[in-house]
Amino acid sequence: MKTLTLTRPDDWHIHVRNGDVLKTVLPYTARQFARAIIMPNLKPPVTTVAQASVYRDEILQAIPEGMDFTPLMTLYLTAATSEAEIKLAAESEFVHAFKLYPAGATTNSDAGVGNIQQIYPLLAAMQRYDIPLLVHGEVTDDDCDIFDRERVFIERHLQAVVNDFPDLRLVLEHVTTAEAVQFVEAASAKVAATITPQHLLLNRNAILAGGIRPHHYCLPVLKREQHRLALLKAATSGNPKFFLGTDSAPHLTHLKETSCGCAGCFSAPAALELYAEAFEQVGALDKLEGFASFFGADFYRLPRNSGQVVLEKQQWQMPEICTSGDVAITPLFAGKDVTWKLL
Ligand code: NCD
Ligand code: ZN
Ligand code: ZN
Repeated sequence: MKTLTLTRPDDWHIHVRNGDVLKTVLPYTARQFARAIIMPNLKPPVTTVAQASVYRDEILQAIPEGMDFTPLMTLYLTAATSEAEIKLAAESEFVHAFKLYPAGATTNSDAGVGNIQQIYPLLAAMQRYDIPLLVHGEVTDDDCDIFDRERVFIERHLQAVVNDFPDLRLVLEHVTTAEAVQFVEAASAKVAATITPQHLLLNRNAILAGGIRPHHYCLPVLKREQHRLALLKAATSGNPKFFLGTDSAPHLTHLKETSCGCAGCFSAPAALELYAEAFEQVGALDKLEGFASFFGADFYRLPRNSGQVVLEKQQWQMPEICTSGDVAITPLFAGKDVTWKLL
């Protein structure tokens, strides 16, 4: 049986929500990953170190007995964030970054930033205190085609941010285009990117394959095949600027299978397996460990994990639904064959 042994990996971008959904989804991630960067887009958003501490405690409570998992917290940046809070966050043991959501760009982003110029003093403070900025990189203009929003965000805003704050550590989250890959490659070593499994495995045809497929809808939306190939090349290049961030984003099944469905793919039940499938497609399984287990930790200046996980080449079927109590969430690739299995 073909197996693949990796240093324990981490997930550098995930949504685990709170309450009953948290209890349902967290075990999937804690089983696979030693640590994860927890997104702060709750309702209401996690904007202060004090709120992150409460949220962190709730996550710690939801870790199943015997599993060893560390949540790495982030704060939601708003126009009202204070420089004092940035200092507190930088000094905190458990807050690792700020997250910039352009207002209206994605799920629970209403409290996000409307005008990036306005938060320049906050970016200066993040640079000064050396705390990373994580970016959802899309413009929100209705007159910008949805497939162009990432490229236009880079051209209009992100290029200026990295020019104006050359020492700011920045992660362009869930990159989806060849242009984003080029931007990150050309930038300094302070600039990195996460890549999701769905953007490595699917192109935009998957959203409309024989009918409308709400479980393939996430933001930034899937792009053309040429972009998927560029992402796959970046992820498997061995360049430490590109690392694993699933963006697993659970929504209740009835809120996705509706006339206006939520954005987000719930990939946590087979996250590592799906990356293995993508890397195997291009004969690059030897590059998976750097991407999954080393480069993110190095960027965040955290120790690499000790301990290992083993993946076995073995076919199994993704469940149609993940449930507990009243919570029902359809995973990415529900009912489909998965070709690797985490032991
Ligand atoms: C995320 C969510 O549901 O919170 N959705 C998504 O489509 N990716 C938000 C985000 O990461 O943009
Ligand atoms: Zn996002
Ligand atoms: Zn996300």
